[in-house]
Amino acid sequence: MTNTIKTKVGIIGGGPSGLLLSQLLDLKGIDNVVLEKHTRDYVLGRIRAGVLEHGFADLMREAQCGARMDAEGEIHEGFWINDNGTMHRVDLAGHTGGSSVVVYGQTELTRDLYDAREKMGGQVIHETLDMAIHDADSDTPALSYRKGDETFRVECDFIIGADGFHGVSRKSIPRDVLQEYEKVYPFGWLGVLSRTRPVNDELIYSKTGRGFSLCSLRSRVLSRYYIQVPLSDTVEDWSDEAFWDELRRRLPDDVAARLETGPSIEKSIAPLRSFVAEPMRWGNLFLAGDAAHIVPPTGARGLNSAASDIYYLYHAMVDHYRKGDSTGLEQYSAKALARVWKAQRFSWWMTTMLHDFPDTSAYDRKLQDVELAYLLSSEAAMTSLAENYVGLPF
Ligand code: APR
Ligand code: PHB
Repeated sequence: MTNTIKTKVGIIGGGPSGLLLSQLLDLKGIDNVVLEKHTRDYVLGRIRAGVLEHGFADLMREAQCGARMDAEGEIHEGFWINDNGTMHRVDLAGHTGGSSVVVYGQTELTRDLYDAREKMGGQVIHETLDMAIHDADSDTPALSYRKGDETFRVECDFIIGADGFHGVSRKSIPRDVLQEYEKVYPFGWLGVLSRTRPVNDELIYSKTGRGFSLCSLRSRVLSRYYIQVPLSDTVEDWSDEAFWDELRRRLPDDVAARLETGPSIEKSIAPLRSFVAEPMRWGNLFLAGDAAHIVPPTGARGLNSAASDIYYLYHAMVDHYRKGDSTGLEQYSAKALARVWKAQRFSWWMTTMLHDFPDTSAYDRKLQDVELAYLLSSEAAMTSLAENYVGLPF
């Protein structure tokens, strides 16, 4: 026997995108269900980025999920670029009329969203298997899944595909409708999380002859560091000691000298990729977040691009249900994609400027060097970097 669930909005995926939309809609009295394939602990076990645009931080507050972020997150009004041993500060606040970013880990943010959903009695169903989308291009879309021995059918007005890059929703859009754009970079990031004091108060993005590195943090006692590695490397190739040694070589001497090291709590390699799927709406199925687009982590746009999709979807849904105005839904794909592509451009630009590209011509290396030299010498270019980093307006 199949159990039937009726709701307004069926959300596939209990990552930050799905949970944030669910919480925002619920606060406006719009009934919804989140269906997540994995357990809550599994979702919270994933270590991801940790820089929130100020507009995203506002959305978290609007979702009544901002208390811990405001208490424990750090406001950063700048970051640093290390150009082969020389440090330059990017004054975010100074170049944007006072804007900043909030450094707060995605894991913590997701935990806050889960807690808020639980407190409001939101429906978040875990371990939903064999998810399938039915009749998304009709007025009666539905989802089906299995949990344990039982099968379920969710009947709803709209389906939200917030199921990440490997989810089912994007794949259920017909091939002749969906256009995919992809760029794969010839390196990955080896990341280490350690219970050590961050080497610097603010983030440091480094361009060096040995490759890129990034010094980031989660709190005053938890650091997150990355180094660019060839795609052929595996985590087993990198002992903690080898990682720390290489990171030191990619930092100015005085910074390297104060680097506090310790055992890694987490160590992983992520390949760098840019990806966009268009359109982000097919009938009554709406894609959001990683389900529709991926960026390389340089510039920290991933989670923020997901949040901007949710901003547009949330307002479109509220206009639809509260005012009977469906313009926002009709314009969702075009509006979301316009901002998504700007984030794609920015993360591609940061990635290209700061990494070491194997097999690049001497000419292209010179261009890459002058791109950074120009940035560091130009108030106009710095302003452009700053306005993108703190987040373009929605
Ligand atoms: N059925 C149900 N849930 C699914 C399915 C499925 N078939 N496929 C995937 N999921 C779940 C995943 O288990 C995951 O928890 O969807 C969720 C998607 O979450 P994320 O991958 O975190 O994607 P999203 O919520 O869009 O988050 C934005 O920004 O910084 C980036 O990649 C980073 O996760 C981050 C993302
Ligand atoms: C992180 O803290 O994990 C982080 C920060 C900034 C980035 C990417 C990752 O650009």
